[in-house]
Amino acid sequence: MAKIIGSERPDFATKVGLVLATAGSAVGLGNIWRFPVTTGNNGGAAFILIYVACVLVLGLPLMVAEFSVGRHAHTNTAQAYKQLSRHWLWSRVGQFGVFTGWFIMCYYTVVSGWALGYLVDSLCNRFGILGGDIPDYKNHFSRFVANPYLPVLYTCALVLISHFIIVRGVKRGIERVSKVLMPLLFIILLILAVSSLFTPGAREGLTFLFRPDFTKITFQTVLDAMGQAFYSLSLAMGCVCTYASYFSKDTHLIGTAFKVGLIDSFVAVMAGIIIFPAVFSTNIQPDEGASLVFIALPGVFQQAFGLVPALGYLVSVLFYFLLVIATLTSVISLHEVPTAYLAENYRLPRPKATAVVTAVCLLVATFCSLSMGPLDRFRIAGRNLFDLFDFVSGQIMLPLGGFLIALFVGWILDRRILRNQLTNGATAAPRTSRYVIILLRYFVPFAILLIFLSGMGIFHIV
Ligand code: PHE
Repeated sequence: MAKIIGSERPDFATKVGLVLATAGSAVGLGNIWRFPVTTGNNGGAAFILIYVACVLVLGLPLMVAEFSVGRHAHTNTAQAYKQLSRHWLWSRVGQFGVFTGWFIMCYYTVVSGWALGYLVDSLCNRFGILGGDIPDYKNHFSRFVANPYLPVLYTCALVLISHFIIVRGVKRGIERVSKVLMPLLFIILLILAVSSLFTPGAREGLTFLFRPDFTKITFQTVLDAMGQAFYSLSLAMGCVCTYASYFSKDTHLIGTAFKVGLIDSFVAVMAGIIIFPAVFSTNIQPDEGASLVFIALPGVFQQAFGLVPALGYLVSVLFYFLLVIATLTSVISLHEVPTAYLAENYRLPRPKATAVVTAVCLLVATFCSLSMGPLDRFRIAGRNLFDLFDFVSGQIMLPLGGFLIALFVGWILDRRILRNQLTNGATAAPRTSRYVIILLRYFVPFAILLIFLSGMGIFHIV
């Protein structure tokens, strides 16, 4: 049955469209709120070099592995692995990926909702950039996330936007929207980077970000770079495999992975160029994650462009708009994973499958959002629901899924299938595909295992 449905499936209409959609999945919080600060604190350009190496030897081979499974099977991720193996473990790797994607979606949408809320706040001058009261930004954020209604409403709005895109399908929904949003994201990135370079702290900020300091590089830094590459490229959450199932036969998988990796790394470096010159124009200490983008940056925008408040206002609005776009395109890719699964495995019409995913996500995301406020006292293993989803997905499910995918594609999957996918059916395997296979077999599983053990605190090297 899956075959019949599979053969009726649409593909992406253009190569640009599929690269932009996959890059849209990859570009997200990892690039904007984690990469710049990790880089600044870990040896600047030295870390960037190591990060790029991790993308090349770990991220891209795994991405190509997921592409190969998805495009070969031409069906949703759960079904794809079932088609390729009857073994009890390997046949379930896809189901696990679909579950991981859905799981991440439930808390990631909450953060996207915050970005939407901050976009509205910046538009309404609630950060006092254009004059008027300047709030205590830390307080502003704590009160916002603990509010029982507002963040939930913003999260719902974001999930519904994603719903209406997903329901339109691959070509008219995902592809069309990516072709508009991603170029818009690049334009905003450029405008913000140029504005930031005109702030007084530009030289100091760029030095902090780029000055290579190899003494900061330890084995732990390398592990952090590997973990960052893994998360930033959206691996092991079903997104990449699902999107690849819509790739046409003549799409070059290695070339596509390379382009996606390039765009993702470019955006991450640009985010650093935007953030640090502005931060160094103020006396605000940058932290990473939510406290960077929702607590430090509003103050930075307010102070760094002190002489021209209108510019600070514009930059803040554009920055949160950028964050909304970056997270929305990631949410869309997550939304598609369980939607394709429900539509194909249970033969639901696409609108119904999308609606089920939307409804379940809204329900769970509401609890995740409330766990930052009214439900904060409800804790499992010392964590509220939001932190629990973040921890379990990031530290356990993603590395475990990635490990299984690398083992499966590197060691179990029929070599002819893999070679066929990597070379688009050509008889002679070019050198790059041989490198990919070697890395997948001998390096990637081992590296992911290390990331997993270090993330769990089971093993730590100073
Ligand atoms: N690659 C994304 C990022 O950098 C991670 C992600 C993708 C998370 C898709 C959720 C959904 O933020």
